[in-house]
Amino acid sequence: MRVVAVFSVKGGVGKTTAAVNLAYEAAAHGETLLWDLDPQGGATWLLDVKPKLRGGAPALVTGGTHPVAGVRQTAWETLDVLPADGTYRSLDVVLDDAKRSRSRVHRTLTSLKGTYRTVVLDCPAGSSLVAANVVRAADVVVVPLVPGPLTLRSLEQVRQVVAERDPAPPVVGFLSMVDRRRVAHRQVLADLPEGVVDVVVPAAAVVERMGAERRPLAAFAPGTPAALAYRRLWKKVRAAA
Ligand SMILES: Nc1ncnc2c1ncn2[C@@H]1O[C@H](COP(=O)(O)OP(=O)(O)OP(=O)(O)O)[C@@H](O)[C@H]1O
Ligand SMILES: [Mg+2]
Repeated sequence: MRVVAVFSVKGGVGKTTAAVNLAYEAAAHGETLLWDLDPQGGATWLLDVKPKLRGGAPALVTGGTHPVAGVRQTAWETLDVLPADGTYRSLDVVLDDAKRSRSRVHRTLTSLKGTYRTVVLDCPAGSSLVAANVVRAADVVVVPLVPGPLTLRSLEQVRQVVAERDPAPPVVGFLSMVDRRRVAHRQVLADLPEGVVDVVVPAAAVVERMGAERRPLAAFAPGTPAALAYRRLWKKVRAAA
């Protein structure tokens, strides 16, 4: 089982969008679970799944309920979702109170070994205990980076969180919401920072349409540059993990 965490300390950079599209790509190659760890439930919404988790997030990470009980099927046979509901708001506090507070997500996933080939984690922004758990569980950490003066800094901040684990999992950065008309974006493209793969997800209205379609990009707009970029990203992620 390969665990792919999509993570950044920054909000609104395209984590959830990437998680959903990567999970869809992964599902073409085997049973895949997308675990939505964000109380906003963006990934749950985008895959058109009911945002209600049996037992809630606390019972899930402390072993009170088996994750299989919370899993929901999507419209695609090999793609399941462990949805987020409001109970995820208390996750940090619950983790803080729990024993082995940094490895609860990892332990929860252990019980799914053999059920899924790939698990994609969609995480809320920030460097909370949830982030520490996600990094602990991950075989690879995928970081969307919006080009700009702070691009390198946000990659560095993720590396700091990831470095708390020894050995640290590989970090794969990619460029998200790229607008080639902007000088700052072209500059980052021309000189890709180390650890950033040459996958460019353009800023495009078709990506925003996922919210209305409630489907992954490749399901309603295959062949668009953004859909192809996520396919390429999946190949890079697979190669890194
Ligand atoms: N390539 C893109 N082009 C245009 N809009 C995009 C693109 N990627 C994401 N968006 C839009 O930007 C918004 C933020 O994206 P997303 O929710 O994936 O970010 P996030 O990092 O998960 O945010 P949060 O930190 O709140 O969880 C969404 O409305 C999404 O539709
Ligand atoms: Mg998100």
